[in-house]
Parts: sequence; C-alpha cells; structure tokens
Amino acid sequence: MRFTIASLATVLVGAVAVLAAPTPRYTGCKLSGISIPSEAFVDPNNSSNTLPGVAQNEQLAKIVLGYGSQNYSCTNGVPTPHGAVATLYDLSCAFMVSPEWADVLTRGAVQMDPTAQLAGIQMLKNMFNAQFIAGVHYFKGDFATPAFEFVDKTKFIGGVGGKIPALLGSDVGKRPLNFGAVPSLKLVAKQGMGSTFSSIYRLHTAGGVAPKTCDWAGEKQIPYAAQYWVYKSK
Ligand SMILES: *[C@@H]1O[C@H](CO)[C@@H](O)[C@H](O)[C@H]1NC(C)=O
Ligand SMILES: *[C@@H]1O[C@H](CO)[C@@H](O)[C@H](O)[C@H]1NC(C)=O
Ligand SMILES: *[C@@H]1O[C@H](CO)[C@@H](O)[C@H](O)[C@H]1NC(C)=O
Repeated sequence: MRFTIASLATVLVGAVAVLAAPTPRYTGCKLSGISIPSEAFVDPNNSSNTLPGVAQNEQLAKIVLGYGSQNYSCTNGVPTPHGAVATLYDLSCAFMVSPEWADVLTRGAVQMDPTAQLAGIQMLKNMFNAQFIAGVHYFKGDFATPAFEFVDKTKFIGGVGGKIPALLGSDVGKRPLNFGAVPSLKLVAKQGMGSTFSSIYRLHTAGGVAPKTCDWAGEKQIPYAAQYWVYKSK
C-alpha cells in the first residue's frame, strides 16, 4: 500500500474500531443451541452400551471444565477410589468458539504444568477481569457421593446413574501418570439433598486413571480434567 494521508486515516480508523470493539468474552456466554454430541452417549467398543439420555424436561444450565485430581488409596496392592477434588472453570464461551476448542482446553488442562496454568488464568483475569472459576467439585466422606458447589450458590449432590468407557482417543494423562482417561458418566441428583440441578454428565475425560497395581501408603493423586455438562429440570 502506498503511504498517503488517506491510507493513514484508514489505518487509524481501523485501530480505533478495534479499541472500541467489545472485550472478548471468556465466561458467561449463552448455551442455547448447544447439546451433547450423540457419539458421547455410546461406549466406543459396544454400541448397545450407552449412557442414559438427557430427559425431555431437562435443560442445559452450565458447561464447566473440571481440573484436579482423582485420588486413590491402596488396598492389598489394588488402587481404590478415594475421592476427587477439582476446580471448575466456565467453558460456555469456549463452546461459542467451537466444541473442538473446548476439547483442546480440556486436554491442555491435564498436560500443562499446574503453575503455568495458574499463571495463565491469572494473566487473563488481570487483562479482562474475567471470573473463570465457576465452582468446586469434591466428594462427600463416603467417596460415593460426588458434590459440586458453584460460585453462584447453586449446587449438586448426586450418585452415578450410568457409566461408559472414555471416548476413543481421549488424553491418557500427564506422564508419568498416564494410565488412561476416566470413564464418561451420568450423575443423577440424590433426592432430598438440596440439589439445584437434576443431572451432570462427565464427558471428554483426560487422565485420572490409577495404575493397575499399587504400593503407596496413604493417598495418590492422579491429575485429570473433564467437561461437566450440568442440566436442570424445567
Ligand atoms: C476399545 O477398542 C479400541 C480399539 O479396538 C481399544 O484400543 C481400546 O482399548 C478399547 N477400549 C476398551 C475400554 O475396551
Ligand atoms: C455390550 O453392552 C451391553 C449393554 O450394556 C451388554 O449387555 C453386553 O454384554 C456388552 N457386550 C460386550 C461384548 O461386552
Ligand atoms: C484429593 O486430592 C486433593 C488434591 O488434588 C486434596 O486436596 C484432597 O484433600 C484429596 N483427598 C480427598 C479425600 O479428596
């Protein structure tokens, strides 16, 4: 482009337009039109083994990325599930970009160094003042009752209502703890425990599986990440 006052003006107007453009959104995007892809409900190795579907009266309320650890104790040389703890991050705006981008973030979560991850989140928070943390996931003391508490005071306390192996090609975890991806699940609310939501699907899992045998004392933490799709009864 030949340099002229007119071309300079065009560049300046363009720059001002960029500055005036709304800040890109990283959290709190609308979920209308988004639904779980049909293949996510089916055992990749057995098409007659499926997760229970979304009920007619259920509506998608949140999609969050859980990143944390699946914990295992060791009993007679065999790892035994011993709870899990994860921080939940809003993924709604990643889905506005594309489901593939949401998947990249889920896989990336498990492979990234936790310190770098926190630094990245803090940087985006400082730049855009985005509130990424949507809540926490943990287990009640019986290790069979998954609980979710969201920053907007909503919550879910449930149990497993369906389980199939992880999607083919799932991220097996961060080396040296790369023993596989935890199964896809449908969690259903336990009655009378004050759940805001009716069900939560754990999908696009990465990592979190224990080795086949163990010799550790106490509890071993295996990093994992997953997408949690949260549904509410209409
Ligand atoms: C499913 O089948 C694939 C391809 O044959 C295999 O690699 C994988 O281990 C199987 N997964 C399970 C959970 O059996
Ligand atoms: C496939 O899944 C169905 C339903 O869960 C089960 O009854 C059947 O035994 C499974 N088949 C194989 C080969 O595992
Ligand atoms: C599991 O691991 C996390 C660290 O990711 C830890 O904070 C938590 O106390 C552990 N134990 C249980 C029972 O969840």
